[in-house]
Amino acid sequence: MDRPTKMTVTGADRVATDTIRLTLDATWDARPGQFAMVWVPGEGEKPMSVVASDPMAVCVRSVGPFSRSLCSRTVGDMIGVRGPYGTGFTLMKDANALLVAGGMGAAPLAFLANELALGNEVTTLLGARTADQLIMPEAFTNTGGLHIFTDDGSSGESGIVTSSLDRFIWDTDRVYACGPERMMVAVLDAALAADVPCELCVERYMKCGVGLCGSCHVGEICACTEGPVLSGERLNGTGFGRTARDCAGRRVPV
Ligand SMILES: Cc1cc2nc3c(=O)[nH]c(=O)nc-3n(C[C@H](O)[C@H](O)[C@H](O)COP(=O)(O)OP(=O)(O)OC[C@H]3O[C@@H](n4cnc5c(N)ncnc54)[C@H](O)[C@@H]3O)c2cc1C
Ligand code: FES
Repeated sequence: MDRPTKMTVTGADRVATDTIRLTLDATWDARPGQFAMVWVPGEGEKPMSVVASDPMAVCVRSVGPFSRSLCSRTVGDMIGVRGPYGTGFTLMKDANALLVAGGMGAAPLAFLANELALGNEVTTLLGARTADQLIMPEAFTNTGGLHIFTDDGSSGESGIVTSSLDRFIWDTDRVYACGPERMMVAVLDAALAADVPCELCVERYMKCGVGLCGSCHVGEICACTEGPVLSGERLNGTGFGRTARDCAGRRVPV
């Protein structure tokens, strides 16, 4: 397994009420959907989607001990980073793309929107609980249509991001989604029903990030090496959306 490379924080910008974008002094040859294993001394190591590769950046939401600590990093601090790991999204040309982002799922999709903007029509459905939890809406505005959904109606339409999928899915060549697993199951079902290819960036408990520990499996699929971006066809019938493994390796309902 690679050892973490030391990287220095060159930017720490708040992008939502509880979310920080950390820019690092490195350039990565990474594709949207790939992830980094980020190590904070004394706190451990967790997977984070790559948000930009030049310079390298990640976006962190403060939800627990590790992410709280990472969110408190400021310019000049050092962290350890391994990667890039996993598979990326398939890029297209002269096509219509539909991006469906729920919560922190917006992080890899912001990177993807930027790459797809060159030569494609990109429509984004961006969802969050509240207006102040929307992640980087500006990253999706220069690429075509942006439709915002919040659970409480404080910005955009009121309701969950998948509630209007039927309105958008028919005109698209491929759907890309990242967010809570139940949200992605709704996207998968809609894409299968409309016979539109889809790619989902799955979030499973990842310890090693390189195929050694088995904690990230979705059925027979190793999400850290064969994913995290997986096609709808691949995920269909695997138990995706039903059970996952927790930090102790126990199978728990999603
Ligand atoms: C491929 C991938 C990409 C990710 N990208 C981002 C990102 O861009 N930004 C971001 O803020 N978070 C991302 N995460 C989630 C992140 O790795 C952590 O889970 C999150 O920061 C919470 O960790 P914590 O210790 O602070 O909180 P905890 O209180 O320990 O956990 C909070 C939640 O995170 C889950 N979690 C904890 N550790 C892991 C882990 N090692 N792998 C997966 N899930 C875990 C727990 O099951 C729990 O549901 C990603 C996860 C994966 C698998
Ligand atoms: S995280 Fe260890 S095998 Fe995938």
